[in-house]
Amino acid sequence: MASRSILKTDPETARAIDNEWTRQQGTLELIASENIASEAVMAAQGSVMTNKYAEGLPDRRYYGGCEHVDRVEKLAIERSQKLFHAEYANVQPHSGSQANMAAYFALLKPGDTVLAMSLSHGGHLTHGSPVSFSGRLFRFVHYGVDENSGRIDIDLVAELARTHRPKLIVAGASAYPRIIEFDRFADIAQDVGAEFMVDMAHIAGLVAAGLHPSPVPVAGVITSTTHKTLRGPRGGLVLAKSEYGDRLDKQIFPGIQGGPLMHVIAAKAVAFLEALQPEFTVYQENTIRNAKALAEGLLSAGVELVSGGTDNHMLLLDLRSQNITGKEAEKMLGEAGITVNKNAVPGDPLGPTVTSGIRIGSPAVTTRGMKEGEMKAIAALIADVIQHGRQTPDVILRTKRQVKEICDRYPLPVSEDER
Ligand SMILES: Cc1ncc(COP(=O)(O)O)c(C=O)c1O
Repeated sequence: MASRSILKTDPETARAIDNEWTRQQGTLELIASENIASEAVMAAQGSVMTNKYAEGLPDRRYYGGCEHVDRVEKLAIERSQKLFHAEYANVQPHSGSQANMAAYFALLKPGDTVLAMSLSHGGHLTHGSPVSFSGRLFRFVHYGVDENSGRIDIDLVAELARTHRPKLIVAGASAYPRIIEFDRFADIAQDVGAEFMVDMAHIAGLVAAGLHPSPVPVAGVITSTTHKTLRGPRGGLVLAKSEYGDRLDKQIFPGIQGGPLMHVIAAKAVAFLEALQPEFTVYQENTIRNAKALAEGLLSAGVELVSGGTDNHMLLLDLRSQNITGKEAEKMLGEAGITVNKNAVPGDPLGPTVTSGIRIGSPAVTTRGMKEGEMKAIAALIADVIQHGRQTPDVILRTKRQVKEICDRYPLPVSEDER
C-alpha cells in the first residue's frame, strides 16, 4: 500500500503507485535498461533532501544551509571515483541525456564533427539523432555493426575517422550485446587527434564489477546513467580525467542545469556504496549468466539473435525469420506478462515504430533472485508466444499463468510498505 501520507493527500496518485507495484510484482521485467532499486536507494530519494536548493558544488554553493547536502554529494563523488577508479566525477547530471549534453558542450563547439554509433545499429538518440539536441547542434557521422557478424565494424570506425577527422569519437550503445573494445576506439581517436568519450550507461554495473573492460583508463570523458545495470536511482553521472574537470563542472552548472536534485544525489551515494560491496559483483556475474541462459534457450528454440548471442546483460532478437514484427511481439508478450521493447535490428527494413526485433535484458529479473533455470523457462515462454501466439491465443493465457507462478516465487525486493 502506498504510504499513508500519499493515500490521505492524493488517493488517485496513491492508487497509481499501488498499481505500479502490483504490475512490477506480477510481470517479468525484461527491459534491458530497467532494474529494481533497493529500499535504501528509494528511501534516500524520498527524503527531506528533496527540499534543498544547492546550486554550485560542495563547499562552493550559492545557498546557505548546505552542510548536510555537501556531505552526501561528497560521499557520492568519492564513492563513484572509488568504484570506477576515476580521477574526476560529477554526480549532478539529472539524466544520462544531460550527462551527454554536458560532455558535448565541454568538448565541442556547435557544428563540430562527431563520430558515434548510429541509432539504428544500437546507438542512443543523444549520439546524433536528428530529433535530439545532439543531431541538431553538431555534425554527426555514424558507424554501425557489420550486418553479418552483428559486431561493431571497427575498420569502418577507423576509415570514417580518417575521412571525416571528427573532433570527438563516442563509443557506447543502448542496444549492443557484445563487449566494446574501448582500447581500439582510443587508438583510432589518438591517430586522428580526436577526443574520446564513452557513454557506458548500459554497462556501468558490469564495468563497476570488473566484468566488462573499463573505459576509464582510455577515455577522456565517460558518461553514464545510474539506474540501469548500476541499479541506483534514475539519474546521470560524468567521470573524466582531471584535466576535463573544470570544463565539465561549468557545463553541468550553470551551463545546462540549475539546482542539483539533492535527494537523487543522496540515493546515488547509497547506490555507489551498494555497488562497492562484494555482493554486487556476484549480482553482475549472475546478470551475465542469466542473459547467456536466455540466449541459449532462445537459440535452441530457433530464435535468431543479433551477433548470435551475448557477452553482457542484453540480447537482441532478430524476428525476421519468425514472420512477426517487433511491435507485434512486444504487444503479445506484454499481454502474457513479459515486458520487453521493440528494437530495430541492423539493416532493419521496418521503421522505428514497428521494427523487426525486440531487446531483452536480465538486470531486473536477476535482482529478483531468478537464476539460469528460470531463464531457460522464460526463454521457452518467449519463443512459444512469438512462434504460436498469433495462431493459438491459448498460448498467451497459458504463458500468463506460468509468468505469474514464477513472479510469485520471486517477490520484488521492495516491500509493500516501501513502494
Ligand atoms: C547509451 C545511453 N545513453 C544515454 C541514455 C539516456 O539516459 P536518460 O534516459 O537517463 O536520459 C540512455 C538511455 O537509455 C542510453 O541507453
